Amino acid sequence: MRRVNVAVVGATGAVGEEMMRVLEEVDFPVAKLVPLASPRSAGKEVEFKGEKIKVKELTESIFDEEDIEIALFSAGGSVSAHYAPFAAEAGAVVIDNTSHFRMDPEVPLVVPEVNPEDIAAWRNKGIIANPNCSTIQMVQALKPLDDIFGVKRVDVATYQATSGAGKSAMEELVTQMKDFFAFKLDESEHKKFPHQIALNVIPQIDKFMDNGYTKEEMKMVNETKKIMHKNIEVSATCVRVPVLRGHSEAVTVWFEQDVNADAAREALYNGKNIVVVDNPAKSEYPMPIMVVDKDETFVGRIRKDLYRDNVLHMWVVADNLRVGAATNAVRIAQKWLEMESE
Ligand SMILES: NC(=O)c1ccc[n+]([C@@H]2O[C@H](COP(=O)([O-])OP(=O)(O)OC[C@H]3O[C@@H](n4cnc5c(N)ncnc54)[C@H](OP(=O)(O)O)[C@@H]3O)[C@@H](O)[C@H]2O)c1
Repeated sequence: MRRVNVAVVGATGAVGEEMMRVLEEVDFPVAKLVPLASPRSAGKEVEFKGEKIKVKELTESIFDEEDIEIALFSAGGSVSAHYAPFAAEAGAVVIDNTSHFRMDPEVPLVVPEVNPEDIAAWRNKGIIANPNCSTIQMVQALKPLDDIFGVKRVDVATYQATSGAGKSAMEELVTQMKDFFAFKLDESEHKKFPHQIALNVIPQIDKFMDNGYTKEEMKMVNETKKIMHKNIEVSATCVRVPVLRGHSEAVTVWFEQDVNADAAREALYNGKNIVVVDNPAKSEYPMPIMVVDKDETFVGRIRKDLYRDNVLHMWVVADNLRVGAATNAVRIAQKWLEMESE
């Protein structure tokens, strides 16, 4: 496969760093890697394939100057809103991790295990959007079940790690835990979360909307429909928990047909990039500590509803920085390159 010039926008961030790791691990055919960030980090070094590379400042003209073909963006919505069009104008395909373009009808929103064919619409604006981390792992688990039983409705409660809010949010949890052991937790600051996150759970991620749901919850509702091309009813409660890495989800799925746990387990077992860990007798089920640095979505606690034959419950866990961001973006890039090389 031909080699391409790749820019990582937000290369010093939690997702950007992971993107470079994944590109390296999958041996993506990179001709030149250009790490980009704000002037704060310009000149710092990042490591890629054993080489130290200087971070450059993100500018409007850098994509043209560096002859970039793939631009992986993860530096926040406003940065994507302003700079992604310059990258696309310079001829690059933008794979954007922020929420900015996700619901734009012209921009495909892609999880390669679910709707890879949508990548073809990248030419509309030169942009492909990466869904929200909690949506990605959920639709990956829904897809093999939908193919067999037809998903009608999903009720989900998430248990989301602090890394979902970036590097400084992880640091906030660690600092608060240190302060707890130094008996000064009451003096500890919280900037990234609306309340103390150490030894707590917070049933709010992002801002509340007029309908009583948060923006994060509405992302799960709207993105699931767009990715699965289906008017699935989704109701989400998104919760931040004091975990550094790995989002968990308790998912209740309502199907068009009756379902049984064994058939569902088998469908998931055959699902792409899904690992089933479901052995209650040995207390085996997915947990955040098991999924760090993994590129698969883990599913367990698969069981039928006690009252309804068409309802199933399951527990879905994945590394939010990988499956929920970097790995999904790199898989899109791989598919895009395959399609463009045909
Ligand atoms: N964390 C997740 O699980 C996750 C999952 C999916 C999507 N996302 C999305 O990905 C984006 C980044 O998230 P993150 O968790 O990696 O955040 P992060 O750790 O805070 O990193 C932010 C990155 O963006 C760069 N940046 C900030 N302002 C910039 C500017 N004006 N110009 C150029 N670069 C700028 C920062 O560079 P400096 O070093 O120069 O500040 C840093 O590299 C967010 O939009 C987030 O919603 C995150």
